[in-house]
Amino acid sequence: MDFEKTILCIGAGYVGGPTMAMIAAKCPHYKLVVVDVDKEKIRAWNSDNLPIYEPGLDELVRETRNKNLFFSPEIEKGIRESEIIFVSVNTPTKTFGQGAGKAADLQYWEKTAREILASSTTSKIVVEKSTLPVRTASAMERILNENSKNIHFEVVSNPEFLAEGTAIRDLEFPDRVLVGSRETPEGIKARKEIVEIYANWVPREKIVESSVWSSELSKLVANAFLAQRISSINSISALCEKTEADIDEVAYAIGMDSRIGPKFLKASVGFGGSCFKKDILNLVYICESYGLEKVARYWESVVEINEWQESRFIQNMLRNMFNTVAGKRIALFGFAFKANTGDTRESPAIYIAHGLLEEHAKVVITDPKALENAKKNLSTFEDRVSFEQDPYRAAEGAHAIAVLTEWDLYKGLDYERILKTMVQPAFIFDGRNILDHQKLFNMGYNVIAIGKAPLKHF
Ligand code: UDX
Ligand code: ADP
Repeated sequence: MDFEKTILCIGAGYVGGPTMAMIAAKCPHYKLVVVDVDKEKIRAWNSDNLPIYEPGLDELVRETRNKNLFFSPEIEKGIRESEIIFVSVNTPTKTFGQGAGKAADLQYWEKTAREILASSTTSKIVVEKSTLPVRTASAMERILNENSKNIHFEVVSNPEFLAEGTAIRDLEFPDRVLVGSRETPEGIKARKEIVEIYANWVPREKIVESSVWSSELSKLVANAFLAQRISSINSISALCEKTEADIDEVAYAIGMDSRIGPKFLKASVGFGGSCFKKDILNLVYICESYGLEKVARYWESVVEINEWQESRFIQNMLRNMFNTVAGKRIALFGFAFKANTGDTRESPAIYIAHGLLEEHAKVVITDPKALENAKKNLSTFEDRVSFEQDPYRAAEGAHAIAVLTEWDLYKGLDYERILKTMVQPAFIFDGRNILDHQKLFNMGYNVIAIGKAPLKHF
């Protein structure tokens, strides 16, 4: 079959794989090729056991694979044969040199740009899909367009807004699609080509066109605003604990103001995930590099409040458990950074587990999906941590349970049964405010939640 367009995606990761699968499903007239340096990953994408889990992804890949969606290790060939190249390689935080701990590490991006240049024989549109610092496009353009091949590259920014667990729904029914380019005739032409792809299934009014800089910055700012809401409500949770106001009641009341809205106001032990902290620190670094100290400090405080919230949780555990957890068995219910994923990147549970282990607690971790990752995260503490699939067994002989991920599973457990197997007085620290606190208190637990007065029997 002859395809209208051949689109390549470099990077078969969390972003590239699902995005290309959705385009393939919605655009049978395009050929989509996904390449990666990691040959194992490509093999997995071609197998029945995909390298990432997302509800709906298996079906989408099964529907399109080897029809108009192809996973291939042949990067050079892929580059040569495509007109549009999406780049979704990883952009971790730099761990070395200038900007270490804050700036984005662009080495994979730059390497990819040079590979594109080396293998191209015709002009192409290069689409930034990975989250990148503002003005990356201009650096990439410089690398790509300093060539003597008489070919031209137009760099377009099209950031992704997928959340884990809902990636397929977010792709199919996005709140918006952002496409940014230079405001030159060539830039606008390239932008329109990318808009045309999405217009196959996304209503036109949801496709936002902008300058390339606005598009790059909007991605960072969207994540910064979301994280800021969580830090804002978490900061108020501390005040609630002092004043006997209830954070869930406050969140409900303010969320009814249509200007504020109810989403992302759930107080918790802290936010995690691969994006929020990374993107905010990136934003902070950019502000610093332009001398905008006040702006940098403002956004940095969002991350600081998050870290404070995590350390407050540990302090609350210690204080309530008679100022010592040494030798005490503590069951952590949940290790993933949020429910319905096995991902533990930047999970508050990592920090809480470390804090408790430093206090010489015996930590047992249970999680329906994240135990393998938890084992990797805590490998240095092997002798003092144990892992248990069954939450009932995890709680056996424990002095306390700390709920760190909002898995539905934990709402429906038989807490009467659990209480009988725990050391008394038994404590529950609900880091996600998902349990029925009064009911647990009436059973005999001491219940300490986020942003609420503690319920204690002594
Ligand atoms: C986020 C953005 O939502 C997404 O648009 C972007 O593309 C990538 O980063 P994700 O990291 O998958 O997605 O998770 P998200 O659902 O946003 O949750 C992030 C963290 O905030 C989780 O740890 C979650 O538990 C926490 N959270 C979220 C709260 O503590 N309270 C809330 O009200 C909402
Ligand atoms: P994201 O969440 O942004 O999708 P991932 O880490 O899941 O990030 O995926 C990025 C993918 O990009 C990885 O599979 C990695 O092997 C791949 N990658 C990194 N550099 C290159 C490169 N130069 N060429 C091809 N693939 C690359």
